[in-house]
Amino acid sequence: MYKILSKRTLAPKIREYVVEAPEVARVAKAGQFIVLRLHERGERIPLTIVGCDPATGGVTLVVQEVGKSTQEMGDRFHEGDSILDFAGPLGEPSEIENLGTVLCVGGGVGIAPIYPIARALKEAGNTVIGIIGYRSRDLMFYHAEFDAVCDELHVMTNDGSFGGKGFVSDPLREILASGREVARVWTIGPAIMMKVCSEITREFGVPTIVSLNSVMIDGTGMCGGCRVDVDGVAKFACVDGPEFDGHQVDFDLLMSRQGYFAHEEACSLDRYLAEAGEGAST
Ligand SMILES: Cc1cc2nc3c(=O)[nH]c(=O)nc-3n(C[C@H](O)[C@H](O)[C@H](O)COP(=O)(O)OP(=O)(O)OC[C@H]3O[C@@H](n4cnc5c(N)ncnc54)[C@H](O)[C@@H]3O)c2cc1C
Ligand code: FES
Repeated sequence: MYKILSKRTLAPKIREYVVEAPEVARVAKAGQFIVLRLHERGERIPLTIVGCDPATGGVTLVVQEVGKSTQEMGDRFHEGDSILDFAGPLGEPSEIENLGTVLCVGGGVGIAPIYPIARALKEAGNTVIGIIGYRSRDLMFYHAEFDAVCDELHVMTNDGSFGGKGFVSDPLREILASGREVARVWTIGPAIMMKVCSEITREFGVPTIVSLNSVMIDGTGMCGGCRVDVDGVAKFACVDGPEFDGHQVDFDLLMSRQGYFAHEEACSLDRYLAEAGEGAST
């Protein structure tokens, strides 16, 4: 069992948990993830390792409540409670080296997984330009944390309620068009955001890493659930990734595969809400 050492709400439906998992905290690197199962009847959910403290054994996760399991975690798992399974670290770590100037682009809950990468890139001696985007000001989180690890930070909101109005792709294009030397771009967020950012960086010939959130089940390369197409070759995001060359990913296939279980996911959430006495989700 893995004890929840702390839990705090970062924004509506976005919570940060620190879970006691010393074996994971000791060895995890930026870019890796865990797969947890809340209880005996729980499904496996992959979550990025946002931070680790080898001294306390704490592993930080940021969870957006989008369906049955993540909502159940938010509703029923509190500080002092325990999670049944917590497997990791999984996936290949990010390749962190001193490249010069790098750009980290995060959107929505993707800001959480890209934060440890930005921090590691800064620690490796890079000049880090951050671009983070939220739908609106009330959904902002990790702004101060990101600011602390970036040499320059651009914040965008879709409605203009904080920072620039628009999408993360707007400052990305402006920075690259200005002729500034950028050695590599990392981008994590919704698949469509990573696709748009990768199309922009392709125009400017800047190598780009994306982290793919395909549907994962076992997280060990056995089930095939997380299959993605990279440069025409089938890869498993859980063991070959989750990071890949954004210029080689078939994002349209990724997005269609992400929707395969939409009906089952909606039924599962409805059942959970009905049991919890909160009515249906639709
Ligand atoms: C490597 C990786 C790292 C991730 N890191 C984070 C993170 O740090 N924070 C965060 O909030 N979310 C993260 N996710 C997404 C998270 O796993 C899903 O939101 C979660 O599994 C949804 O479960 P649910 O039952 O609440 O929702 P569901 O109703 O089951 O699904 C809602 C949506 O989440 C996605 N999803 C569902 N099941 C899975 C699954 N088993 N694997 C991947 N995606 C799924 C689907 O796109 C689906 O449409 C990550 C996913 C991957 C693959
Ligand atoms: S999650 Fe099963 S192969 Fe990747």
